[in-house]
Amino acid sequence: MIALLKRFGFSECFHAVALTEIARQFRRLAGLALCVICAPFLSAGPALHPLMWDTMEKTYLAKMGETSSEMAFVVTNRSEREVVILRIEPSCGCTIAIPPKHPWRLAPGENGALQLKINFADRYGELIKTVAIDSTAGGQTLVMRVMIPETPTLDGKARLRNVQVALADPQAVFRGECAQCHAAPATGKLGEPLFRAACAICHVSDHRAPMIPDLAQPRKTQDAALWRAIIANGRFGTLMPAFSNTQRGPLTDAQIDSLVSYVLKRFPGEPAQP
Ligand code: HEC
Ligand code: HEC
Repeated sequence: MIALLKRFGFSECFHAVALTEIARQFRRLAGLALCVICAPFLSAGPALHPLMWDTMEKTYLAKMGETSSEMAFVVTNRSEREVVILRIEPSCGCTIAIPPKHPWRLAPGENGALQLKINFADRYGELIKTVAIDSTAGGQTLVMRVMIPETPTLDGKARLRNVQVALADPQAVFRGECAQCHAAPATGKLGEPLFRAACAICHVSDHRAPMIPDLAQPRKTQDAALWRAIIANGRFGTLMPAFSNTQRGPLTDAQIDSLVSYVLKRFPGEPAQP
């Protein structure tokens, strides 16, 4: 009898376990079915835009002295309908967008590349620009990130020592270890790249000493001969060195001519707008 009861109790117990197990399995199955039914609806959200770009964000590592670059974003129409790209709007005048055609129609499955030219002259550090894309399928935003090497930085002690050396002889910047930063980068360059290599180190640097004038300040006269004289011969008694070969500087006459025509365009009497 006891044995019977025990067996009964056991089987009851087993029965209960089996039921809860079935209930659990059923709930799991129901959950699974729900997932299968819902999945297409859930993923049809904003993640699946009909226009698929190879990536929404690109980074370009600029080399020292580089002032512009080109990037391309490749787009594919993954929908069943034609999509027309109506507007492409870069966030600044420094970027030019060149679509393959206008209006840019993409048939189902068709792809194409959007070329972007970005100008970053006189910019340092990290530059982030966006391009707004407006199409019949809605808006999207592409991001361009450009990393521009900064001019080399010096600690306060080194700067003070260098200034002292230059006060004794302004032409010292073109000799010995000073030359690796102040003369060598100018070799073989003309115009804007030459300005960036030879002049920006003092005149555009964020860390420049207070006695160094901002060349973008408004100037009363636009005198090519004056620019040429200052660049070639320096300013006697100041830290502005003489750049001309004939003054033991690093620049040829042709390089100085190219600088003069660049600075006349670049600093035309108004402060340069960033
Ligand atoms: C590692 C690169 C480097 C070397 C080497 C170097 N300089 Fe410079 N120099 C700079 C930079 C960058 C600036 C702009 C100011 C700044 O960022 O500290 C500068 C600015 C200056 C200035 C303008 C004053 C100022 O502080 O803004 C003078 C003058 C100068 N340097 C002289 C010299 C002399 C002389 C030597 C050699 C004894 C020398 N430099 C070596 C990078 C260098
Ligand atoms: C070693 C640092 C240094 C470098 C490199 C340098 N300059 Fe200068 N520059 C100076 C200083 C300092 C002055 C201020 C002189 C003064 O007090 O009159 C100056 C003044 C000038 C002035 C006169 C501006 C004014 O409003 O009075 C011009 C123009 C000029 N520099 C152009 C250039 C050009 C172009 C280059 C590149 C070829 C260059 N500088 C490179 C330090 C430098």
